[in-house]
Amino acid sequence: MAAVEPKRVKLWGGRFVGSTDPVMEAFNASISYDKTMWKEDIQGSVAYAKALLKANLLTETECNELIAGLEEVAMEWEADTFTIQPGDEDIHTANERRLKEIVGEVGGKIHTGRSRNDQVAVDMRLWLRGHLGDISSHLLDLIRVLVERAENEKDILMPGYTHLQRAQPIRWSHWLLSHVWPAVHDLERLTGMYRRVNVCPLGSGAIAGNPFNIDRQSLAEDLGFDEATENSMQAVSDRDFVVEYLFWASLLSSHLSRLAEDLILFSTSEFGFVKLHDAYATGSSLMPQKKNPDSLELVRGKAGTLTGNLCGFLMVMKGLPSTYNKDLQEDKLKLFETAKVLAGVLQVMAGTVQTLKVYRNIIGYKPMYRVALKQHMQLHILFRNIREPPSLIHLHIQKSEGREEEEKEEGGGGREEEEEEEREQELAGEEEEEEEEEEEEEEEQEQEEEEAEEKEEAGEEEEEEEGEAAAAQNDQ
Ligand code: ARG
Repeated sequence: MAAVEPKRVKLWGGRFVGSTDPVMEAFNASISYDKTMWKEDIQGSVAYAKALLKANLLTETECNELIAGLEEVAMEWEADTFTIQPGDEDIHTANERRLKEIVGEVGGKIHTGRSRNDQVAVDMRLWLRGHLGDISSHLLDLIRVLVERAENEKDILMPGYTHLQRAQPIRWSHWLLSHVWPAVHDLERLTGMYRRVNVCPLGSGAIAGNPFNIDRQSLAEDLGFDEATENSMQAVSDRDFVVEYLFWASLLSSHLSRLAEDLILFSTSEFGFVKLHDAYATGSSLMPQKKNPDSLELVRGKAGTLTGNLCGFLMVMKGLPSTYNKDLQEDKLKLFETAKVLAGVLQVMAGTVQTLKVYRNIIGYKPMYRVALKQHMQLHILFRNIREPPSLIHLHIQKSEGREEEEKEEGGGGREEEEEEEREQELAGEEEEEEEEEEEEEEEQEQEEEEAEEKEEAGEEEEEEEGEAAAAQNDQ
């Protein structure tokens, strides 16, 4: 193989005399992100070299030289020794430039009848096809984790919610599986999408097809595609497969954001159904009682980012004139970001769900509620002391002592604080109740609790009425 001096000539440089403005050069370049597809670009070129041989456009020796050269380029990428040169606008120009350096002038023959327009389209389809395989296994892992928990924790009951109000008792496993089904449907959708991605546009040329009698069917087969695209003009301008993937990812991530939101609620002291593993939560040095569900909040947030990518790219596509336009280069930014984020989302979600602790006594959930309330009240006391400067704490004590008079003076104000104190007392009362109840039968316990609850509610209603009456008086 005759090595030649690298030439800083652009693939499309023939007609141009001046050099490009460096700002424009950087603006135009996509190598910083489309190098992600280096492997697929080599794969497409190797298959294309074979197709050129079949069409008698290369001799056997030339074809072997090209393939050996392309394999060397691939090895450099693999070993991270490939050096990107200033003129390397994108992955296609970079690989071809390096191929020519390695094999000499024969390297130029790889471009016979091929354009970067069909090259980029085939690279992206190959890349996305590979990614769909990876992402489906992440999705399956998450489904498996959810199903396994549902299977092992069938006996746990919990309140089911509508309008975020307690509706009916359900099984924890029922809730888990309610989040499995959307994921299963996403998996089905992925299968349909895969068929549409797995179509070969190579051989479409720049726009009007390949004039050299390339066997497109065997080229498609060689690259593992199910079929070849039918219309060369459509093939070089089609990015529906990107839009479809971005939509699919957005929908999946929005399903996961709903799962995340449920779990965020369930992990609060107010619900107290689950506790996240430290591996997926963070703490606060200032407020040590906190456990922030960062993993889940990020999963929820990423759904916004991914939907933004979908909308952004649809805006790029809208109103483009026929066939290839450079606007299409934006596709890769959205595609690669979405793919990376989604892989992270799925893995973090699977880990979070797998490792979280679910409290087995969610239902008969009065006790859970008490624990939550107790924690809440303790925190409340803590916060009140932190929040209020000493003078106000002092004031607060005074207030508790002479509340009635003060209420009159304040014209019904301070109601909130009064309610909080009532809740504290309620809590203390509940603790006593608990101790007594421990000695009794479980069924009786529940009955008592129910009665107590009814009484409490009745009491609250009365209070409310009183409060309203007081407020009405104050209004006058
Ligand atoms: N980097 C380009 C892209 O990603 C490759 C295709 C360039 N084609 C062209 N006619 N300029 O879209």
